[in-house]
Amino acid sequence: MSAPHRLLLENAQQLVLVCGRGEEYLLREGCARLAVLRDASLVVGLDGRIKAVGQADAIRRQFAGATFERRIDCSGKCVLPGLVDAHTHPVWAGDRVHEFAMKLAGASYMEIHQAGGGIHFTVEHTGKASEEELFSTFRGRLGRMQRAGSTLVECKSGYGLSWEAELKMLRVMERARRSLDVGISSTYCGAHSVPKGKTAAEATDDIVNNHLPKLRELKQSGEIHVDNIDVFCEKGVFDLESTRRILQAGKDIGLQINFHGDELHPMRSAELGAELGARAISHLEEASDEGIAAMARAKCAAVLLPTTAYMLRLKQPRARKMLEEGVIVALGSDFNPNAYCLSMPMVMHLACVNMKMSMNEALAAATINAAYALGRSGTHGSIEAGKQGDLLVINSDRWEHLIYQFGGHDSLIDYVIVKGKVVYQNERCGTMSSY
Ligand code: NIG
Ligand code: FE
Repeated sequence: MSAPHRLLLENAQQLVLVCGRGEEYLLREGCARLAVLRDASLVVGLDGRIKAVGQADAIRRQFAGATFERRIDCSGKCVLPGLVDAHTHPVWAGDRVHEFAMKLAGASYMEIHQAGGGIHFTVEHTGKASEEELFSTFRGRLGRMQRAGSTLVECKSGYGLSWEAELKMLRVMERARRSLDVGISSTYCGAHSVPKGKTAAEATDDIVNNHLPKLRELKQSGEIHVDNIDVFCEKGVFDLESTRRILQAGKDIGLQINFHGDELHPMRSAELGAELGARAISHLEEASDEGIAAMARAKCAAVLLPTTAYMLRLKQPRARKMLEEGVIVALGSDFNPNAYCLSMPMVMHLACVNMKMSMNEALAAATINAAYALGRSGTHGSIEAGKQGDLLVINSDRWEHLIYQFGGHDSLIDYVIVKGKVVYQNERCGTMSSY
């Protein structure tokens, strides 16, 4: 006989809802009032959704006599929503540790790119890799992200560039989406770089006239599910007009606009994104005052990437200005061969120290606001009845330890739960297999 409920988490010292009134996102003032319950419990139903959350006594009374497939005593511990990583490039072959050495010796990101390295290097190696190899390394990376608390991850293509190679990456992401216990928001990023031998105008034509119509067919037939469209809008890569054409064509086939902008040079990407109705723009180190104001008005999320600004020693994006102007600020790891970090707790820590965000702001940015950037805040990003049961249990009596202990997530996180099912548990809590 199957149990009527999947999971009971009981007696948590702190249960961090993040928000509790169906908010789609939190602005600065909302972050200051982050919703946290004390001595609280929650129940996830067999459908993987949160059935009830509240004071431990009230939940005990409400579910007296009920049975659960699993119950976890969270006394002295904290429960948080699963983290959402709003920007990653996780499907590739060939690391770039040699380029890290070059950068430490003084080479810039763009110097390496223009000399044929960087994204070009990864495109070459990814092109030679089989789908099986790509899937296997991708799965390993998702497992590491999950053990660091991420339960929903945005994943980009973009190391293919030709249609066939982009499709190979999209198929690998689709396989993961269907078979693994981690949420995936997939992004077509065929305009990540101008392929060797083509001009940016030729690459733009190819994407608009060839890639996107094919993608539309695959979407319609249900063969491949793609959520977002991305372009690397940057001096020497795709200029503002090419970016506009590609993003608009993507929007026309039903993709959410979510792109790289204003990273190394001021491009007016923020203004363009706001004008096109983009869901989100990433990086924004060089965003203008007008761009920031336009993003606030358009409810276009800023996905800030502290690892990249740190590794490339860029000037930091103006997180405080964005928060003060009413922009929805989200965070992503930007995991890629340039920025090799799979841990959202470390990303939150860097956001606090280098971008001057508060811990509340960083947590909201890595949960409800990251979910908003992916168009998923109706189901993810906070602990509310009806939302998907994606949760973390940490072995600490104050949730802030998840940010404060830089690199400490390995021993802090006791359980990672997706749809009410434990997908990772710390050795301390007994053994189980995980990928
Ligand atoms: O977000 N800036 C463009 N894309 C990535 C880097 C990709 C790469 O270098 O392989 C980023 O940082
Ligand atoms: Fe990126």
